[in-house]
Amino acid sequence: MNIEIVPGKPIDGQIPGTSGLRKKTRIFMQSGYLENFIQAIFNAIGGAGGKTFVVGGDGRFFNARAIQTIIRMAVANGAVKMIVGRNGLLSTPAASHLIRLNGTDGGLILSASHNPGGIDEDFGVKFNTPNGGPAPEKITNEIFRQTTILESYAIVTGPDIDLNEIGHRTIGDMQIEIVDPVADYLVLMQTLFDFDSLRALFASGFSMRFDAMHAVTGPYATAILEDALGAPAGTVQNAIPLENFGGGHPDPNPVWAKPLVDLMMSDASPDFAAASDGDGDRNMILGRGIYVTPSDSLAVLCANAHLASGYKSGLSGVARSMPTSRAADRVADKLKIGCFETPTGWKFFGNLLDAGMATICGEESAGTGSNHVREKDGLWAVLLWLNILAVRRETVVDILKAHWREFGRNYYSRHDYEEVDTAIANDLVADLQSRLGDLPGKDIQGHQIETADNFTYADPVDGSISEKQGIRIGFEGGARAVLRLSGTGTEGATLRVYLEYFEPDPDRHDIDPQVALAPIAAAINEIAKISRRTGRVGPDLMT
Ligand code: G1P
Ligand code: ZN
Repeated sequence: MNIEIVPGKPIDGQIPGTSGLRKKTRIFMQSGYLENFIQAIFNAIGGAGGKTFVVGGDGRFFNARAIQTIIRMAVANGAVKMIVGRNGLLSTPAASHLIRLNGTDGGLILSASHNPGGIDEDFGVKFNTPNGGPAPEKITNEIFRQTTILESYAIVTGPDIDLNEIGHRTIGDMQIEIVDPVADYLVLMQTLFDFDSLRALFASGFSMRFDAMHAVTGPYATAILEDALGAPAGTVQNAIPLENFGGGHPDPNPVWAKPLVDLMMSDASPDFAAASDGDGDRNMILGRGIYVTPSDSLAVLCANAHLASGYKSGLSGVARSMPTSRAADRVADKLKIGCFETPTGWKFFGNLLDAGMATICGEESAGTGSNHVREKDGLWAVLLWLNILAVRRETVVDILKAHWREFGRNYYSRHDYEEVDTAIANDLVADLQSRLGDLPGKDIQGHQIETADNFTYADPVDGSISEKQGIRIGFEGGARAVLRLSGTGTEGATLRVYLEYFEPDPDRHDIDPQVALAPIAAAINEIAKISRRTGRVGPDLMT
């Protein structure tokens, strides 16, 4: 074994403040690129010497190669142990759990989440801290700083490690433990949910489909739903992880999981369906004839979580990202528990979860999770829904309608304008920002603006301040539009417009959401001059 110190070089492309690096795969494959980033991570955390890490990814193209490189670098940097998922696979929530369970010094998760995979698609690496969550800004900023000053990286030479067999290996002084990616996660799920009731539900003939989208949740969903809970073989579809996710976008939304949505809207619909994304942290929930928006799902899960054994003593609080609908707030009000509004991005939930101030968290972008790990967790959301269905024995539609009757309905939709010219998008936001003070009191197409600001978050645990997290326009009667630029796109800018309108009257709970929200969409279009500035007649995507 030979430690080589290779001249490194600053790499460009990391966006300060984001929790990892996401790039085209070919960029990661350039000689030294991945190596420089990994060395920057090690340097940013005070070196890898004497430390233990978890490493695994969603199985996309370059996953296995990258893990071999990371292992060699960990050895050269003096790490004592790496826990690796068999075949290099670990879902993001399972990696978070392994970090916590084993008390490691963090973990490296290889994924570009719901982005396509392949040599011409996307790859990504992120660092999670010992609490199991995405690195907070002070660490990501330091990683970024390291990427700009790096002079060398350390790596050992030697043969590849066989990642396909569970067991222990060593290279030099470092131990490598290859683990079953599912086993510990399954045990964790058994502590949260009542597996006997779930087995009884499936035994009663309850039918479901889970679309793993050829991504990492395939083995997890098969082991849990089919093997442990007795759902019939074939319940999990697209269950074998593929390096290119079968050529699709492993993104569980009505666009990329259209076949599943079509099935649920057809006469052949099973009782329940769900899907997850590339790395297993997102979820989509469907009932017969109905798509449950993530915002509604969060609210229903909070209102019913006590039906599952892991949450039977109730929730300490709920947290949602600012653009997520306020449906969950109504539940928190009724339960008399804390309710927190955070900036977009799971990392902002970490302090609230660590401090025991929130039990369940959610984002409108198909992310839901709880204090069992420090990432959002797609299969967890599916199992909590199943547990609720097993206890209530009602259909998804009936549960949702009863929820709206009790709490009112927050109509909600997100409109995305993709690949907008970056300068145009930045100007649009800057112009709107400069006019925020003049907006309150204005009447736009019959809608009176009450409030207008750019969201500032003061973390109640550590007091840190995050500014300009999204422009919020509040209208008379409680309707709301939020506007922000995506931080995760890889081409141009993505403008996200989030629309919400509250309807207390149960006789008006059956309107098509796009129809219910059309007046707010038109108003924000006029206020922010979206069509005029972007030249687009409408959004590219409505979820
Ligand atoms: C998007 C979602 C956000 C989520 C993030 C990572 O970020 O909107 O809720 O936390 O992906 O999955 P955005 O592209 O909007 O910055
Ligand atoms: Zn993801």
